[in-house]
Amino acid sequence: MRIFAFESSCDETAAAVVEYKDGRFSVLSDVVASQVAVHARFGGVVPEIASRAHCEAISGIAYETLKGCGLSVSELDAVAVTNRPGLIGALLVGVNFAKALAYAWGKPLISVNHIKGHIAANYLMNTGLEPPFLAFVASGGHTSIVRADGYREQTVIGGTRDDAMGECFDKVARVMGMPYPGGAALDKLAYEGKRPVAFPSAAIHDDSLDLSFSGLKTAVLNHINAQKQKEAPLACADIAAGFVQSAVSSVVRKLEMAFDRNPELHTLVLAGGVAANSHLRAALERFAAERGLSLFMPALRYCGDNAAMIGAAACLEYEAGIFSDEALNAYAFSM
Ligand code: KG4
Ligand code: ZN
Repeated sequence: MRIFAFESSCDETAAAVVEYKDGRFSVLSDVVASQVAVHARFGGVVPEIASRAHCEAISGIAYETLKGCGLSVSELDAVAVTNRPGLIGALLVGVNFAKALAYAWGKPLISVNHIKGHIAANYLMNTGLEPPFLAFVASGGHTSIVRADGYREQTVIGGTRDDAMGECFDKVARVMGMPYPGGAALDKLAYEGKRPVAFPSAAIHDDSLDLSFSGLKTAVLNHINAQKQKEAPLACADIAAGFVQSAVSSVVRKLEMAFDRNPELHTLVLAGGVAANSHLRAALERFAAERGLSLFMPALRYCGDNAAMIGAAACLEYEAGIFSDEALNAYAFSM
C-alpha cells in the first residue's frame, strides 16, 4: 500500500509518500519545508506565524511530493495527517488540507499521533524492529517514555512534568547567545568543555519514571546569571558539557528504572528531534550494551519532524483497518 502523508504540528511543513509492501517500508518521496529562519529572530516558534507559514507552504509541498514520487493519484491508497499533539493552529492547516485532499481524491483518511509518528520513524530503516519495546521520545514539545505492546498499542509510562527536553536545550542555548533552535549547536559545543559544570539531575527523585527539565534549565540560568553578576567570563563550553551530561544521565537513570520494572522487555527505541543528540545516542549505546538490550535509533534525517514517519505510522493504521472521516479534528494534547 502507498500513503500520502502530511505533518504540520510545529514549524515544519512536510509531506511524503511511503510504501509498505511485504513487511518493508520505502520512502518514495519526502519533502520538508522548515520555518526555522522565520522563527529564529523571535528566539522560538511563534504559533500564529507558524500557522500562516503552513498555509502558504502546504499546497506547494503537496505538489512537489506528488511529483517526486512519480506516481499518479490512482496509485495512492490513502491520505494521512498528524492530528495531535502540537500547536493547534498549525495542526489545523494539515488536517484540513488532508481532509480536502482525501475527499477530492476519494481516498480513505488516516489520522496519526505525532509521538507515535516519531516512534514509527524507526520502522523506516527496515532493521527488524518489532514490539514489544520501550521508547524514549524527546523533541521540542514532548518527552515521554512509552511502552509499546503492539504496533498501535502504546502507553506513556513516564515523561517530563514541565519543559520538554528539546525545549530545555533550546532555552539554555539561547541564554548563551546561540540562535534558535540551539539544541544541535549545544550538542557540538559540549565536546569542547574540559571542566563540565556540575548541574542537578533532571530525573525526579521518586519512584516515578518522570523527569523535570525546568529545574535543570533554571539551575543553568542561575549559574549563568551568577557568573555575569561576578563579571566572570562565561565558560560556555563547560556549561554546555555539564548541562548535556546532566540531561543525558537523567534520561539513562529513568530508563534504567523503566527496564527494571519491565524485565520482560529487551528492546529500546529512541525517537524525536533530540534523538539526533550525539551524546544521548552514545550514552544509550553504552546503556543498551551493558544491559544486553537491542537498541534502535532513527537515521538522523528522520529524527526531526518529517512526514515519512507519519506515513510509516499510517501504514500500520491502514493494516489494522483504522480510518478517520470528514469529522476529523486537531488536538493540542495527546489524549
Ligand atoms: O521533533 P522535532 O523536530 O520537533 C518537535 O516535535 O518539537 O524536535 C525539535 C527539537 C528542538 O528542540 C531541537 O533543538 C532539538 O529537537 N534537537 C536537538 C538536536 N537536534 C535537534 N537537541 C539536542 N541535540 C541535537 N543534536
Ligand atoms: Zn516532533
